[in-house]
Amino acid sequence: MNISEIPTPALVVDVEAMQRNIDRMARFFAEGGCKLRPHFKAHKTPEIARRQLAAGSCTGLTCATIGEAEVVAAEGLTNDVLIANEIAGPGKAARAAALAQRIDLTVAVDSEYGLRDLETAARAAGSNVGVLVDINVGLPRCGIAPGSDALALAQQVDASDAVTLRGLMGYEGHVVGIEDRGEREARAAKAMSRLLETAQLLRDNGLPCEIVSAGGTGTFDITGRMEGVTEIQAGSYALMDTAYAKLDIPFEQAFSVLGTMLSRPRPDQCAADNGHKACSQDHGNPDVKGIEGARVLFLSDEHATISLPESSTLAVGDSIELWPSHIDPTINLHDVMYAVENGEVTGVWPIAARGYPEQRQRPVAL
Ligand SMILES: Cc1ncc(COP(=O)(O)O)c(C=O)c1O
Repeated sequence: MNISEIPTPALVVDVEAMQRNIDRMARFFAEGGCKLRPHFKAHKTPEIARRQLAAGSCTGLTCATIGEAEVVAAEGLTNDVLIANEIAGPGKAARAAALAQRIDLTVAVDSEYGLRDLETAARAAGSNVGVLVDINVGLPRCGIAPGSDALALAQQVDASDAVTLRGLMGYEGHVVGIEDRGEREARAAKAMSRLLETAQLLRDNGLPCEIVSAGGTGTFDITGRMEGVTEIQAGSYALMDTAYAKLDIPFEQAFSVLGTMLSRPRPDQCAADNGHKACSQDHGNPDVKGIEGARVLFLSDEHATISLPESSTLAVGDSIELWPSHIDPTINLHDVMYAVENGEVTGVWPIAARGYPEQRQRPVAL
């Protein structure tokens, strides 16, 4: 199958560029004390996770949800999974406890509720779930305050017989996208000082803290070289997007949303079929790949309206590829991605954890 035969809209992976990204990241973590725990949420695609793990320097995989972790286990990708997120909600702790019977599962906890929920479920299942206390390092999202609040929660975790305290995590998501390297380094250092000082506090109080997990694609070579950080949760680096392409990081754009021109009503404008049902725009409009002077004006449900140089010879029926500004939500819109090498489709990779896999696997019984 040739790229021009792929039904559009569709996701296309430049396999060679992706593999270079994966290998570059693995080589970076082959040196130094810190390892990589690739974030599965970025692509939700077992074939990509297999390649990330095969490249080496990994502790296991990171997931954002219990649904992703279940897919990782079902696919047999790794035995070591961190859900770097809180998992409150009906049935979730029970699913985590059940999963912990099959794999080595660690879950982020930032509240007594989260701890008790997990502990009760683990006890009922006769399993043991690992816990990282999630520290707020500056991103206004989840995480308990560093210092004494975190210590008190870690002591409660450590006192439980149904869960095991493994350490801390703290995601500096407010820092990973800062374009200026000096500012990114300074803000990452500040964020990580909150995490690392709390790790020391735990140890000073006789608690275990074998894992200190943090970082993303934008800080892999900053946070990943800080003494005391044991693993980095980067995800986007394998495929990249236009937001991360603005940073001085050594990864190539390996991923696009393929579309077909539907209409060229004016010489300087056209509409293609890769609209926002195929390509997210939460980080801004996508870029047009490989057409000098072309620019996305706006996306609507089924259309990308694109301004074109009048001299462009592109016609209705021709392919137009978009580089998304944010890969995670873009990938989540699709069922498969097409693996392309030298213009030939060499694989169709299921995005096995897209959407909410549990809605497919166990429909709610009324
Ligand atoms: C908890 C957590 N860790 C790490 C990441 C890093 O992912 P990426 O490398 O794609 O920036 C994210 C991204 O949102 C995240 O939410």
